[in-house]
Amino acid sequence: MELSTEAAAPARARETPAADATPVPPAPAAAPNTGALDRLQHAARANPAAFWAERAAAIDWLRPWDAALDASRAPFNRWFPGGQLNTCFNALDRHVLAGHGARTALIHDSAYDGRATRVSYAELLARTARFAGVLRDLGVGRGDRVVIYMPMVVEAVVAMLACARLGAVHSVVFGGFAAPELATRIDDCTPKAVVTASCGIEPGRVVEYKPLLDAALARARHAVPAVVVLQRPQCAAAMTPGRDHDWQALDARATPADCVPVEATDPLYILYTSGTTGQPKGIVRDNGGHAVALLWSVKAVYDIDPGDVFWAASDIGWQVGHSYITYGPLLAGATALLYEGKPVGTPDAGAFWRVLREHRVKVLLTAPTAIRAIRREDPDGALLRGLDLPDFRALFLAGERSDADTLRWAETHLRVPVVDHWWQTETGWPIAADPLGIERLPVKHGSPTRAVPGWDIHALDADGREVAPGETGLLAVRLPLPPGAATTIWNADERFERAYFRDLPGWYKTGDAGCIDADGYIFVMSRVDDVINVAGHRLSTGAIEEVLAAHPDVAECAVIGMADALKGQVPVGFVVLKKGVARAHAAVAAEVVAAVRDRIGPVAAFRQALVVERLPKTRSGKILRATMAGIADGKEVAVPATIEDAGVLEEIRVATRALVAG
Ligand code: COA
Ligand code: AMP
Repeated sequence: MELSTEAAAPARARETPAADATPVPPAPAAAPNTGALDRLQHAARANPAAFWAERAAAIDWLRPWDAALDASRAPFNRWFPGGQLNTCFNALDRHVLAGHGARTALIHDSAYDGRATRVSYAELLARTARFAGVLRDLGVGRGDRVVIYMPMVVEAVVAMLACARLGAVHSVVFGGFAAPELATRIDDCTPKAVVTASCGIEPGRVVEYKPLLDAALARARHAVPAVVVLQRPQCAAAMTPGRDHDWQALDARATPADCVPVEATDPLYILYTSGTTGQPKGIVRDNGGHAVALLWSVKAVYDIDPGDVFWAASDIGWQVGHSYITYGPLLAGATALLYEGKPVGTPDAGAFWRVLREHRVKVLLTAPTAIRAIRREDPDGALLRGLDLPDFRALFLAGERSDADTLRWAETHLRVPVVDHWWQTETGWPIAADPLGIERLPVKHGSPTRAVPGWDIHALDADGREVAPGETGLLAVRLPLPPGAATTIWNADERFERAYFRDLPGWYKTGDAGCIDADGYIFVMSRVDDVINVAGHRLSTGAIEEVLAAHPDVAECAVIGMADALKGQVPVGFVVLKKGVARAHAAVAAEVVAAVRDRIGPVAAFRQALVVERLPKTRSGKILRATMAGIADGKEVAVPATIEDAGVLEEIRVATRALVAG
C-alpha cells in the first residue's frame, strides 16, 4: 500500500496558513502537552476494567454491577454484567430530579420554516414518558424492537428515548433509504411497531415518508402490528385502519410510563450499517457500557459541560446522530441541537454560521463534505466575516478523511481548533481524536491525532505483526474493546466474529488501512473492503452491484468509489451487457441508475454507470476493483501481474476520463 505525500508528511506543529494573517486559534480549556492523555491512555491499557469502573460512577445505577468487565467469551465482551439501569432515566429524569428541569435539553432548528423550538429537560421528560405510554399501550415492552423512520424532528428523539424508557430496542433508519432497504431492516429486527412521520423536507421538495414505509411493509415478510404516524403540516399521510395510529391522538390520551430497569448488557439499540454485501449489519449497542462511555466522551473528547450547546450536524439515522444528537449531550446534561436543513442551499452557505450564532453553540461536529460544500459557495469565507461567535470553541470533523485544504480553510475562517477525529458505527464513539477535554495536542494535517483512551490502536500486517512507525498496515484495536463499542451484530453472532475478529485473533479489525507515526499520530488512509464514503454516508459497493446485476441486460458489473471534490467519493458503476443485447448504452445506464435510486435510495448518490466491453480481472476471475478505482482517480497504478488482459485497463481509463471531463 502506498501513502500519499500529504499523510506521510513529517510531524508539524499547528501552522498558521501563509495566505492569511488570521490569528492562531484560541486554546481550549485544557492546557497543551500536559501528559494527561498519556497518563489516561496508560491507565486504560494497563487495567481496562478498573479504568472504566471509575468512570461508571458517573452513571445512576439501579443495581450495582458484579464486575466491570466479563471477557470470558471474547470477543463478546460484557461490560458491567449484573448491573441494572435505565438509559432514559440517566438522560432525562436524573437531571430533572437534580433541579435542572428548566434547562434546555434540545433545540430544534428548521432551516425550512425558519423556526427554532427549545425543549426543556422537564418538557422532554414529560413528552418522552407520554410517548413511552403510547408504545406500551401498543404492546411494546422490554426487549421488543421498534423501527423509527423519521426526519429531523423533536419527535424522533422522543421516540428513541421512549424506547429506552421501556427497555425496548430502537432501530432508526435514515430517511434517504428507499423502501427495499427499509424492508430488509424490518425483516431483520422484526419490530412490534414502526414510528414514522408523514414526510421529511429536502431542499425544494417534500419527501413523503409514509408511502415509502407502506411499500416497505408490503414487501417485508414480517408483519408489523402497529404504525404510529406523526402528521406534519407539509403533507397528510394516508392511514391504514387498524394498523396505523395518529401520534397526536394517541399522545393526547396516553398515561406516562415509568422507566423500566434493564440489565447493563441488554440491547439499547440496533443501527444498521453497510457491510460488504447487500445485507446490512445490525450493530448492537448495550445500555450500561454505552451510557458510561458516551457520558465520559462528551467531556473528554469534546470538552462539553452541562448546559453547553453541542451540535452534531448529522442525521439521527447515522451513528453521529445517535451518539451526539441524542444520547451523549443528554446523558451529560448539555443542550443538544437538532438541525433540519443543509449546510448550503437552505438558504445559503451561511446557514451553519447562523445556527452557531443564534443558539450559542460551543462545539460543532460535522463531516468534511459539509465544510467543502460551504467553501465551494463561499471560498473567501465572506459570510463569516465580522460574525461574532463568542461561545464557539471547536469544530470536529468525522465520517471521512479530512483533506488538508478543507481543514486549513476552516481553521482560517472559523478561528477555533479544527479537530479531525476518527470513528465508525461499530465503535460508537471516537477512536482517535485530539481530546480537547483532556489535552490540546499539536495538529498534523491528515491525521485524526492519537488514540482516545480506551482504544489501543496498532497498524498490523496481514499476519497480525506490528508494522514499523510510518508504514501502512491494517488498523486494528487490541481487545478488549472499551464500553460503548458494538457488542454483536443483531441475529448474527457468527458474522460479527467473522467480520471483525477472525483474521487477527486478539484484535478488532477496523476495516481501515493506515499508519501510525513515531509520535503515535494515526493516519487513516482508505478502507480495505468494499465500503465507500459518499458525503460522509457509508455505502456498500457490493449492495449497489447487487442492484446492477439484477438488471435483465447486465451480464456482470463492478462498482467503485471515485474521488469527488465535494462528496469525497461517489459510486461509479461499470456494466458488461449480456451477449446479443443491442440496446443503446445510455438507456441501460439510465435504467440501472434509476434502479439504484429505487432499491437503495437517493442517499447512494449513484448517477454514473458506464457500459464497457469487459471488466479487468485476474486470471482466477477476481475483478480488480482497487486497480479500477486507482485508474478512475487518475493515479499511476501498477498493472497487477495476475491480470488476465491488461488492455482492458485502457478502456476503463478512457471511460472514466470522459466522466471527469463531464
Ligand atoms: N430523506 C430523504 N432524502 C434524503 C435525505 C433524507 N433524510 N437525506 C438526503 N436525501 C437525499 C437528498 O435529497 C439527495 O437527493 P437528490 O439525489 O434527489 O438530490 C440525495 O439523498 C443525496 O443527499 P446528500 O448526500 O445530502 O447530497 P446533497 O447533494 O443533497 O448534499 C451535502 C451534499 C454535502 C450538502 C450533504 O451531503 C451534507 O450535508 N452532508 C453532511 C454529511 C453528514 O451529515 N454525514 C453524517 C456523518 S457526520
Ligand atoms: P461510519 O460507520 O459511517 O461512521 O463510517 C466509518 C468509516 O468512515 C471509517 O471506517 C473510515 O473509513 C471513515 N472515517 C470516519 N472518520 C474518519 C476520519 N476522521 N478520517 C478518515 N476516515 C474516517
